[in-house]
Amino acid sequence: MNENTVAIIGANMAGCRVAETLRQNGYTGKICLIGEEAELPYERPPLSKEVLWSNGSLPNGFFLHEENFYKEKEIDLFLGSRVEEVDLSKRRLKTSCGDELDFSHLVFCTGSRVRELGVSGEDLQGVHYLRTLSDANGFSPSLKKGARIGIIGMGVIGAEVAASARKKGCEVICIEPQEVTMERTLGKRFGSWLAQIHRDEGVDVRLGVGIKEFIGENGLLTGAMLDDGDTIDLDAVVVGIGVIPNVEVAQEAGIEIDNGIVVDEFARTSFSDVYAAGDVTNMPLFASGSRGRVETYQNAQEQATIVAQNIMEQDSVYHNPMWFWSDQYDINIQVCGDVTSTSDLIVRGNDKSRDFSAFFVRDDIVVGVMTINRPRDMGVGKRLVAKKIKIVPELLLDEKVNLRILLK
Ligand code: APR
Repeated sequence: MNENTVAIIGANMAGCRVAETLRQNGYTGKICLIGEEAELPYERPPLSKEVLWSNGSLPNGFFLHEENFYKEKEIDLFLGSRVEEVDLSKRRLKTSCGDELDFSHLVFCTGSRVRELGVSGEDLQGVHYLRTLSDANGFSPSLKKGARIGIIGMGVIGAEVAASARKKGCEVICIEPQEVTMERTLGKRFGSWLAQIHRDEGVDVRLGVGIKEFIGENGLLTGAMLDDGDTIDLDAVVVGIGVIPNVEVAQEAGIEIDNGIVVDEFARTSFSDVYAAGDVTNMPLFASGSRGRVETYQNAQEQATIVAQNIMEQDSVYHNPMWFWSDQYDINIQVCGDVTSTSDLIVRGNDKSRDFSAFFVRDDIVVGVMTINRPRDMGVGKRLVAKKIKIVPELLLDEKVNLRILLK
């Protein structure tokens, strides 16, 4: 064991955040950031948007930091390097590149990987998943004007890729077995609202139907057969049917796993001095008394900060409501808290337009907020949810009332 070394598995946004926060807080030990992707740590949100629009060039700020940053902060980067084994009794790990590293503290930011569809024809050229820069680079050349693009699964990734493909002038067909789009994140009512937006934008949205198989010729995708028997012609598809947490290395090390790495509100795992942050964690959920995984950027960022603080013995607790955003066409969608379970709905503005906010209220407390092109309302909404402030529903409804007075 090395007295003062934090090893972070996952050179992604969460892993970087742990490393940076340690240095910001004056940690003087060694920091090793280890990740299997070859590139410097980067932002994933642009992969389904800007990276697809730009014919291969990357947007400003895509990489979290220049290489120099890591040198200056004395963060040892191990890229293209997969951690294959962790021995918690010796506090030592081994990587696929043959490195052996001793640590005093270990952090799992191993994230998640795409769930695979498992239908015939999945290995045809033209069938894509979208999780990494390399995936986006592989798919973006397919977005030619007039190309027929299939989207399998209209969740967050599917909906954003559909909008990107329309922006590039493609014909887009979406296949979604649920009755609405983005149901996991928006719930039924606004999932249905969003399906209509995509139809208004010219997408052929097929709901309540799945894929039976992909069809091809000479190894190339040419179409798909749906499970209602219909056949569609396609030039390329993106499958976005959810993710599964990367728990294997932690599991083999003997750490408690249950749909993710089990952590407490301090982001501690079942082993002392071993932490986890981001998509991979199964964590106590805000205000619900239950546990689950939270697959959002904000969660990865904030939980990673808590990890760094707790390695430095600050006893910080993570207990914030979930928040995420998605950009599709000219619409910025933001969601905070619980918008999917039963609650009363108060809509500020016109929900037939692309400019309104929806507040999900239970016993006069706002438990969830969704804003459509109203980031300012979200600024207030987040605080209402986090602080569980009692509100007067009439004030929330009245557009002439400045929402901020509800915070007082
Ligand atoms: N065929 C077609 N669609 C399916 C199938 C299937 N066999 N199985 C599931 N789906 C649909 C679901 O009904 C859902 O609408 O795929 C969609 C998956 O949506 P998400 O759970 O939002 O997952 P995804 O869009 O893949 O996003 C993956 O990236 O940006 C992040 O927050 C996002 O963590 C999430 C991750």
